[in-house]
Amino acid sequence: MKIILKKADFTDIEFLFYLRNIPQYYKYYTHPRPVEWEEHINWIMPILLEVDKRDLYIIMADDIKAGQIRIDYTADMAEISVALVEHFRGKNIASMALEKAIEKAKKENKVKTFRAHVHQNNIASQKLFEKLGYQIEMQDGAWIKYVKNV
Ligand SMILES: CC(C)(COP(=O)(O)OP(=O)(O)OC[C@H]1O[C@@H](n2cnc3c(N)ncnc32)[C@H](O)[C@@H]1OP(=O)(O)O)[C@@H](O)C(=O)NCCC(=O)NCCS
Repeated sequence: MKIILKKADFTDIEFLFYLRNIPQYYKYYTHPRPVEWEEHINWIMPILLEVDKRDLYIIMADDIKAGQIRIDYTADMAEISVALVEHFRGKNIASMALEKAIEKAKKENKVKTFRAHVHQNNIASQKLFEKLGYQIEMQDGAWIKYVKNV
């Protein structure tokens, strides 16, 4: 399967809205509730217009939209999150896509430290980051904070 990262654009707004509002997914997010269309638009516009300092990629698997990766930048590190459409899970796609995203972030933004915050009940995500060599830095309430220096 050919995995490509495509920078998100205006044609991806509905796909990203769909992914954000899957109940089995958002129960593990910082805001564990669905978002309204208007809220989604307010969130996504500054990213698409490149006002917000984030990278937002669509994971393309054989030219089909399979998921998304988001990287939020702060001073010297980047926080990464990922989600796949159910049908594309269990195929190593998230690992391949994350490695590509991290390579890009390293090259383009000179980031050396990546973090991911994962809910303690989100086993799939914990397994993914652990497989990629992320270490547990600390646990803060229900959140496991992973870190990797690259
Ligand atoms: C996180 C995510 C991208 C990982 O996708 P993936 O790499 O294809 O992995 P899977 O979802 O198939 O699961 C990963 C592993 O967890 C295991 N797993 C999944 N759900 C599980 C559960 N409820 N209990 C135990 N193990 C579970 C899988 O069997 C798999 O194990 P393996 O690596 O030993 O084969 C995907 O699960 C997803 O989109 N989740 C919803 C969004 C999300 O929570 N993102 C994380 C925010 S940082």
